[in-house]
Amino acid sequence: MKETRRKRITLLSTDKKGTPGSPFSQEAAADALHFHRSLPMYKRTELVSLRSAAEEAGVKAIFLKDESTRFGLKAFKGLGGSYAVFKILCDRLGLDHRKTVFSDLMTEENRERYHDLIFATATDGNHGKGVAWAAALFGCKAYVYMPAGSAEARRKAIEDAGAERAVITNLNYDQVVRYVSRQAEEKGWTLVQDTSWEGYEKIPQRIVEGYLTMGAEICQQLDGSIPTHVFLQAGVGSLAGGILGYLANIYSDKEPAFAIVEPSTVACLYESARAGDGQIHSIPGDPVTIMAGLNCGTPCSIIWPIIRDRAGFYCACSDEVTETAMRKLAQFPDEAEKVTAGESGAVTFGAFMEIAKDEELRSEMGINQDSIILLINTEGATDPEGYERIVKHDSRY
Ligand SMILES: Cc1ncc(COP(=O)(O)O)c(C=O)c1O
Repeated sequence: MKETRRKRITLLSTDKKGTPGSPFSQEAAADALHFHRSLPMYKRTELVSLRSAAEEAGVKAIFLKDESTRFGLKAFKGLGGSYAVFKILCDRLGLDHRKTVFSDLMTEENRERYHDLIFATATDGNHGKGVAWAAALFGCKAYVYMPAGSAEARRKAIEDAGAERAVITNLNYDQVVRYVSRQAEEKGWTLVQDTSWEGYEKIPQRIVEGYLTMGAEICQQLDGSIPTHVFLQAGVGSLAGGILGYLANIYSDKEPAFAIVEPSTVACLYESARAGDGQIHSIPGDPVTIMAGLNCGTPCSIIWPIIRDRAGFYCACSDEVTETAMRKLAQFPDEAEKVTAGESGAVTFGAFMEIAKDEELRSEMGINQDSIILLINTEGATDPEGYERIVKHDSRY
């Protein structure tokens, strides 16, 4: 294990053990894609080739999957919420999800049998919006709770997506998760949470399966190119673990190097890896970062083993890393490369560019002129005021 510190980024290289596969298989991805394609608003998101950045960084290619346009929700999260809700409804109706599509669930007779369900979740923004949107799609109610300090614009967006209730609490993220979980148990709501713990695993697993639609689309869009390095941002790690598990299965002969990217103030996966005891470690207190979607203090329990055994690198980044990246992505001279990337979306691009220009870090990760880099822009301007302020007005970095 080696830790290399810089002012804006710290890189941890580990001796990953490697495991024979993950539950996030090609079949699981095909099932998720089958459902999402049946939604009337489904449209594959772009895989953008960042040519000028690749030239600047001295690599062969940088591909950025741009989730800022997913379902009009400005983030990838709706993929997970909608797929979990779909499978819950299939269970209630006794339907095989592989033989069921969206329109099958929308008959009057079927809707009558599930319309009383109330879905509840805790969120720092995007997941709650996805659940609210998914519940509304099927004509059900969603109750969504947020941590203290959440942006009002993000709360309002959840309400606008169809939530019956969208509330900012005075709790931190981990506390809100526990609060909603207790409320759901007492009141008979169905908890659709994007993180797992002992005894609550089935629904988070389905949420992560929903994210695999992105993985399936990426592999189609790469059209034969195999990434050598994949940078994935993490809050609880569900997105990163799902995509990493899927890509490791697909590219088992030539496994890419995986790097997990987190805010330095709340790098719970980084700290869990650094501890070296194989266990989950939480970040206590009320950590502060502009990367709201990544401000989660405890890794997802079903995902941690996948990341622990497959990710060779962990990057802890300061807020400046993502601010610089947001600006750069918004301001590429070539229109085809311009991307609207929010605080949690841009950080992997930022982390990669920091590493690419630093000889020691670059060599530590084995990055060279033949490298093919894969990144996901997980959100667009989900807090429009914050986005404008960073991209247009503030050029401190
Ligand atoms: C935009 C964005 N990116 C990345 C993540 C991280 O996902 P996870 O919590 O599954 O690690 C989130 C989580 O909410 C998010 O909103």
